[in-house]
Amino acid sequence: MEIWKWVFVGVLWYAGYVSSTGAVELGRSQNTERISGSAGDVLEDDPVGRLKVFVYELPSKYNKKILKKDPRCLNHMFAAEIFMHRFLLSSPVRTLNPDEADWFYTPVYTTCDLTTNGLPLPFKSPRMMRSAIQLISSNWPYWNKTEGADHFFVVPHDFGACFHYQEEKAIERGILPLLQRATLVQTFGQRNHVCLKDGSITIPPYAPPQKMQTHLIPEKTPRSIFVYFRGLFYDVGNDPEGGYYARGARAAVWENFKDNPLFDISTEHPATYYEDMQRAVFSDDIVLPFADAIPWEDIGVYVDEEDVPNLDTILTSIPPEVILRKQRLLANPSMKQAMLFPQPAQPGDAFHQVLNGLARKLPHDRSVYLKPGEKILNWTAGPVGDLKPW
Ligand SMILES: *[C@@H]1O[C@H](CO)[C@@H](O)[C@H](O)[C@H]1NC(C)=O
Ligand SMILES: *[C@@H]1O[C@H](CO)[C@@H](O)[C@H](O)[C@H]1NC(C)=O
Repeated sequence: MEIWKWVFVGVLWYAGYVSSTGAVELGRSQNTERISGSAGDVLEDDPVGRLKVFVYELPSKYNKKILKKDPRCLNHMFAAEIFMHRFLLSSPVRTLNPDEADWFYTPVYTTCDLTTNGLPLPFKSPRMMRSAIQLISSNWPYWNKTEGADHFFVVPHDFGACFHYQEEKAIERGILPLLQRATLVQTFGQRNHVCLKDGSITIPPYAPPQKMQTHLIPEKTPRSIFVYFRGLFYDVGNDPEGGYYARGARAAVWENFKDNPLFDISTEHPATYYEDMQRAVFSDDIVLPFADAIPWEDIGVYVDEEDVPNLDTILTSIPPEVILRKQRLLANPSMKQAMLFPQPAQPGDAFHQVLNGLARKLPHDRSVYLKPGEKILNWTAGPVGDLKPW
């Protein structure tokens, strides 16, 4: 069994994830080996007793009502915003006494606004988020004490709290001004990018656990596919030349390797997708979840953007024992567990890794607490459209 398939679900919607840092990242899998050193070990930490989380109670129009309107939100790759909420409500780290809380969580489903095709639109997200923050800041005293520095938000959309699916627009918008002091839990993870700030927690995309289970193939199945990729190479609507989408890396893979028999790549999303991924030696990676706890550098192969045309040579010249070691690391059960959102939750799963990430950020620095009346955030900053009531 392997991990990259979780990362890959719904890749058609993941515009621009590959290679905004100028690298194509490839991962692989199989077998078992303990992650050595301190990095992987923290995956086994138990967050209970290390932090207390207060869950704000919001009117259902911010969460349950939205979900009721479109239950498809439960299955798309950003559904972590819903399941994280459910998880926290019954978690032993939850406290009902906000005065003893280390972290404050606002359950707002900003990504549950789907097109008829089921793609989440983020256009209302900024207004909705703003409205929720307005509400908590006027009804409870805690937001004003730190202006969000001890609050966390799940913002799983393409470019996190930049709230746009086109990278150019997302960068232009930047992180929603009101969230600039908060901790963001997001699937988007790319270093040196305006939509990922220091201290954010990156998570895997959500994949329905039952669905994953039904597609498992026997562990010893030979890896008969060398490189596997399913997803868009071009963003035909916005960038037909392929120079911008995924920084041209996907277009370069297609142009160079579409006829190479080692490369099983196409835009189709086959019914055997999960099975195929498990038979592949190399498959594409888009995001690196829990990067402070998982040694991704030892697991993946990083290829510079300019070297994409040499991908075949680069990948075929990696010694088998190196590949094997990487596959063993990836197949570590604690890594696997950290990529999953099982229901009910299980120790070491992605929910617990989010809590571990939050616990590692404690105690809050004293400097995050503002003097009475002190204000840092600008409530009228950002695009005018975002300031309209939700
Ligand atoms: C927090 O500050 C805002 C002004 O920025 C104020 O309107 C609001 O009432 C304050 N909240 C509380 C609970 O005092
Ligand atoms: C807040 O942002 C608005 C819009 O950018 C700007 O006009 C205003 O001067 C800012 N206020 C402060 C106090 O910086």
